[in-house]
Amino acid sequence: MEKYTIAVIDGDGIGPEVVSATLKVLTAVGKKFGHKFSFKHVLMGGCAIDATGVPLPKKTVSACKRSNAVLLGAVGGPKWDKLPGHLRPEAGLLGIRAALGLYANIRPAVLYPSLAAACPLRPDIAEKGIDLIVVRELTGGMYFGKRGLKEGKFGAEAWDTEKYNVMEIQRICKIGFETARARRKKLTSIDKANVLESSRLWRKTVHEMAADYPDVVLEDMLVDNAAMQLVKNPAQFDVIVTSNMFGDILSDEASMVTGSIGLLASSSLGEKNPGLFEPIHGSAPDIAGQDKANPIATILSAAMLLLSLKLDKEANAVENAVKAVLSETAYRTGDIASTGHTVVGCVKMGNLIQERIKI
Ligand code: IPM
Ligand code: MN
Repeated sequence: MEKYTIAVIDGDGIGPEVVSATLKVLTAVGKKFGHKFSFKHVLMGGCAIDATGVPLPKKTVSACKRSNAVLLGAVGGPKWDKLPGHLRPEAGLLGIRAALGLYANIRPAVLYPSLAAACPLRPDIAEKGIDLIVVRELTGGMYFGKRGLKEGKFGAEAWDTEKYNVMEIQRICKIGFETARARRKKLTSIDKANVLESSRLWRKTVHEMAADYPDVVLEDMLVDNAAMQLVKNPAQFDVIVTSNMFGDILSDEASMVTGSIGLLASSSLGEKNPGLFEPIHGSAPDIAGQDKANPIATILSAAMLLLSLKLDKEANAVENAVKAVLSETAYRTGDIASTGHTVVGCVKMGNLIQERIKI
């Protein structure tokens, strides 16, 4: 029996709820395929601040490094909003991404036919389908550039710097090209090269790399146009590669056009350390503790986790279980329910998916 250690960051808000549903699914996968997943729960985010005074305790980083993969729910909440930046729950998330060197954030957005009614786009746009992947740079740009706050001539002034070097651009664009190569062979590099110097370097670098990928069609798109194209004609996108900040914004948009942010999974990968797998949504404090969250994004993140462990059959089983519940039953969490559906909570949705794995 193959053994895997998974570091589990339950986090804050709905984090523990969506994680708990996902661990049941992983346990069912273990039983069915003969693996032992052992879960090592560690603290990060607001709960870590409450327990230890810091958002990312050292113990958490070392436990994550020792694991085969890290599963994360979500962090943050109003309780910790007034803390200085480096002590906020989000600093824990940025800290773990940096500590594990997770520079590549992969965020697939797929419109399932069974969720067509949840898609906010006009039917003639939605019926062309949505199947894209956002490859977001995750350890550079404005998130990690120099920032500051000081008293200036007109009162307080603050700044955050967008900075990229060629190495950072090359390694993320390489993932973009390779992801596109394995799919429909179209890569859209999104930038703001009409204004930003860092974007002009990005654009120059990605074009220099294109010669090595003659089978992939590379196109540039300005980020403002991309925001529009994602609602006007999302079917045109195959793989998007972009900076940390633009990727953050566009992946929320991409998720919503597929029905709900509660559906989008992600993996964050680097070179040497285990990957981190998390839903792209936040901790949703407004619905926390009410059994209303949609666990599907976290469950699909677990499928990506299984893929990273080269457990392809197992990953497929999870994806198929999600698809089966959505296409063969009328059960939906509130965020994706429409006429004729029965609204269920996070626990029930998790159980329905887990039962499908056993079949
Ligand atoms: C995400 C989140 C994080 C980010 C926040 C919570 C720091 O929005 O994973 O997209 O901005 O990267
Ligand atoms: Mn985000």
